[in-house]
Parts: sequence; structure tokens; C-alpha cells
Amino acid sequence: MSFKEDFLWGGATAANQHEGGYNKGGRGLSTFDVVTGGGYKVPRKVTFKTANGKIGAVPVDSTMTGPVPENSTGYIKENTYYPSHEATDFYHHWKEDIALMAKMGFKCFRMSISWSRICPNGMYEINEEGLKFYDLIFDELLKFGIEPVVTINHFEMPMYLADHYDGWLSREVIDFFLFYTKTIFERYKNKVKYWMTFNEINVLSGWCQIGVHNNNPQNLYQAHHHIFVASAKAVKLGHQINPNFKIGMMVSYTPSYPMTCKPEDVMEAIKFNRQKEFYMDVQVRGYYPEYQLKKFERENIHIKMEKDDLKIIENETVDYIGFSYYMSTVSSTDPNAKKTEGNQFIAYKNPYLKTSNWGWTVDPLGLRIALNQIYDRYHKPMFIVENGLGAKDVIEKDGTINDDYRIEYLKNHIKAMKDAVELDGVDLIGYTVWGCIDIVSAGTGEMKKRYGLVYVNKHDDGSGDFSRIKKKSFNWYKNVIQSNGESLDNY
Ligand code: BG6
Repeated sequence: MSFKEDFLWGGATAANQHEGGYNKGGRGLSTFDVVTGGGYKVPRKVTFKTANGKIGAVPVDSTMTGPVPENSTGYIKENTYYPSHEATDFYHHWKEDIALMAKMGFKCFRMSISWSRICPNGMYEINEEGLKFYDLIFDELLKFGIEPVVTINHFEMPMYLADHYDGWLSREVIDFFLFYTKTIFERYKNKVKYWMTFNEINVLSGWCQIGVHNNNPQNLYQAHHHIFVASAKAVKLGHQINPNFKIGMMVSYTPSYPMTCKPEDVMEAIKFNRQKEFYMDVQVRGYYPEYQLKKFERENIHIKMEKDDLKIIENETVDYIGFSYYMSTVSSTDPNAKKTEGNQFIAYKNPYLKTSNWGWTVDPLGLRIALNQIYDRYHKPMFIVENGLGAKDVIEKDGTINDDYRIEYLKNHIKAMKDAVELDGVDLIGYTVWGCIDIVSAGTGEMKKRYGLVYVNKHDDGSGDFSRIKKKSFNWYKNVIQSNGESLDNY
């Protein structure tokens, strides 16, 4: 058998895309609560109110950037659809969703805690009702032997901190984050073992993700420094609270291939790959790498640090590397090379590979390449915490959903991951299918772009009763888990 006996098979979601209940149970507002729905090539928008009361909206492109005017505050406009408000209503359907996960034989469920459900304004006030909500979820998961894997912060922050502190640009936010983190570490120390500090730390850039209004490179890297320090301090705190905690980092991993063997293209690929390696180097190796320091020098970026920052980063490296893998990309120096969409970036098109309906390159072998690149560089346990296909699903007249395309995608990726374990010997601890129960897409805010093994009856016009339907991939995945990844053609 190729996978370890205790391999963590499961699924993953995030609060702002799955949970809903945005104004229920004492939860405070979060930045994603003012991000509207969008569509393929139709950007989502952040709605805000300026200091003199003017209401406006700024588009959030696929990289989630788009500066929001300084001194403005997030604002909920009437008659506007905000997908996070109900999302796919895990808030009221958690029991049903967990029962479905148990039926598939999940060994783990990766989810995020909504910071503003625990600390409504992100600061030092605790919402006991919020803590109780996650107690119920963890207890239910554990009842079925499903290990919770918790992302402490997935792409959002309490809106108060964005409005009043300019988000992660303020150093004070480190302490607020640590208070929140301490609260959940202590509360769930006997229920949750696997944690991840920040989702896709290397793509955090927009107001909705980090609360920074003007995300110019200077501000962005300063905010990221605060995030690094917060994450390292959280690692230290977690291990003090429970030495058995496994605390990981999480990066969006899109390997880039040179378009040609022209050395300039190869160098472009090296530079592109550094956009994620930088974050891994800091959190796994424990230092700012030379190439990044040189970049700061060239671009006149000055990071304000406190005396012990570099020490804490050095001492508190992570226990494992969590990463998302959806696609590979291509690097080129040719300005006329054809482009396509990507996971939070626009990418060059690979002529050898097909793309999904949303323009994302489909490259199963790229997952084996990613696993090898990461393992060669860091030699740490790895956890694939997101992989999946965003596709349009159709309910047939007989009520079935035949998502063979999704099965094909997942099967090919699992095969590649099996090769990486069996043939290359990488250390892999788990795999979670992204959006295992349908969720709202982060990039487009759509329901149409579905990832789930379970369909949720919710649509982009806001209609739908949230009922759940098993897709064909449900039983297929159940067999995969039951056979520990040996049976990939059984459905
Ligand atoms: C990752 C995020 O970037 O990709 C998820 O961690 C997101 O939150 C996923 O949902 C897929 O992207 P999208 O835009 O299709 O939802």
C-alpha cells in the first residue's frame, strides 16, 4: 500500500464560503461580508462608505487586490447580494454535512474558524456563543472519528480591524490575532490537533483578505511581516498550550514551467516560483531569503521590524507544509504569449494542457512535480489541503448529478500523488478535496462554479433551499477512502 495507514483523507471548506450565519449568534462583521457576488470575468466588488458618507464600490480582480479608499469603512448596501451572508449555510446544516462526510468515510475535515464569530470586533471581547458553535462542530466530527483540521484565518478579518487599524498594516493586529488564537487554542486543545495559521499566505493582498486599504508593495510587505510574526508567535503559543499540536503553514502552490528552454524563460520561472518559496522559506526555514532581501533593496521597500522579530521567525518554524494545488502555469519573456485565467493570477497558457471552463490549467502531473519540489527543498511532512475542479453541475431529470468530469480530475490528481509517494518517496500526511460540500467560489463569488461531492441547492440569484444532494463523485470518493487510495475506478 502506498499511503500511510493513518493517511488523512477528507474535504475542506472555509467559513466565508461555507458557513453563513453572518449576523447570527453574536458574530461581528467580517471583511468578506461586504464583497458582492461576481462571475466569470465579472469582478466581485467591495462596497464601502467614505469619511464624508459617500457610498462606493471597488472591483476586486482575480488577484483579490484593488485599493479601497483610505479612511473608508466596509458598508453593506441595500438590495445587494453578498454571498458570504448565507454562503451554503453550514451554520444551520452542520449536522447534516458532517453526517455526509462520515458516510464518505472522511478521516479529517479542514475548515476555518471565523475570527469575528469568536471576537466580534477582532479585539479582546469574546463571544461565548461563537465558541459554543465550534464546540458542537468539533464534538460532532470527533463522534464520527473525523479529525478537525483548522485554518485559523482563511482570507478574511474582522471588519472593525480593517476599518479602524488598516488591517495587518498595524502592528497592534498581531496582539489581537494572538488573543483570538490563544482563545481557540485553549478552548479546543483537546479537540483539535491539526492547525494552519493563514490560508494561502503567499496570495494575501486585497483589502478583503488583510484589511489594508492601500496595498502598494511597501504596505503589502509590511503587512506580511506582521503576519509572519503573528504566525510564528502562534506556533510558539500553540506548542506551549499543547505540545502535541501540529501547526502548519499554508501556501498556494502553482509550479511554473519555462515556456521554452531559452535561459531567460528559465529565469522567469525561477522568479515566478520565488513568489511562493519566499513564504515557505520564512515559515519553514525560518529566515528572509537573500533573493527577497535583494528585491526589497531594489524596490526601495523597508520593513519595520522589532528587535526579536527575526529570532521568533527563526525559532518558531512550522510542523508541516499545507498547500493548495489546482494548476500549473508557464513563465515566459514573450509579451505576446497567450494568457489564461488562474488561481488568483493571470497565467500564460500551456499549449500542452487543457483548461477548465474557468480557464484554469488542468495538470495532474504538476501535482507530483509540486510534491517533489517542496519535499526536495524542505524535507518536511506535506498535506495537500486543497485540490478540486470548479465546474457547472447539472441535475438530471431523475435527480442525479453525474459529475464524471470531477471524478476524472480528482482521480488523475490522486494517481499523481500516489506516484509521488510510491515512486519518489515524499512524506505526505493527507489530502482534502476542496469545497467537498458545495461552497461559494472565492474568486468569482459564484455558486455556479461548484467543487463539491455534495450539491447544495443554492443559486447566484440568491434562490434555493440549501438542500443537499449527493453527486456521483460521492460514492467514488467513498471507495477511494475505503481502499486507502487503491481503488480509483470504482463508482
Ligand atoms: C484557493 C482558496 O485559492 O482557491 C479558496 O484557498 C478558493 O478559498 C479556492 O475557493 C478555489 O478558488 P475559486 O476562486 O474557484 O473559489
